[in-house]
Amino acid sequence: LAGGDRELLLNGIRDVPDHPKPGVVFKDITPLLADPRAFSVLTDALAAAVTRHGATAVAGLEARGFILAAPAALRAGVGFVPVRKAGKLPGETVGESYELEYGTAEVELHADATGPGDRVLVIDDVLATGGTAEASVRLIRRTGAEVVGVTVLLELGFLGGRERLLETLDGTPLESL
Ligand code: PRP
Repeated sequence: LAGGDRELLLNGIRDVPDHPKPGVVFKDITPLLADPRAFSVLTDALAAAVTRHGATAVAGLEARGFILAAPAALRAGVGFVPVRKAGKLPGETVGESYELEYGTAEVELHADATGPGDRVLVIDDVLATGGTAEASVRLIRRTGAEVVGVTVLLELGFLGGRERLLETLDGTPLESL
């Protein structure tokens, strides 16, 4: 994004110091979501990415990724698929765990949510260490679907998420707006 649209989105992202713990600066996107003009610009940009990549489905990552991915999928005319934290999806699932600073976390996808022939764009709000997105990409690929890209609103460059994710993506594009 460039110019006024970029400014509009940046103005909607608020730094909250010491959340969720001391020393961490949280990127709060709720002001952006509360501004229909900014939310619409963001949705247009994400929907354009869906179309540009020829995606046939959009996967949103719980929870804030849902808020961005669902309207983008709808606007682009493709389906929405949730990647959830473990234990939330009711049907048969596939799961992938990944390392956190302390311990591990796991994401799940309905086993029949994506499959061979599907071209899936992964959408989330923030790329930090890249663990969540990386596990989600692996998960979708395990169902036989192709991941055609990962698109996020913003990335925290100093955490090295891009480097980590690019290795797994192996040529699949990663974009942050
Ligand atoms: C945040 C963010 C991404 C993830 C990025 O979600 O929305 O999904 O962390 O971090 P990573 O790149 O280090 O994996 P969070 O787990 O806080 O969940 P939420 O959206 O439910 O608040």
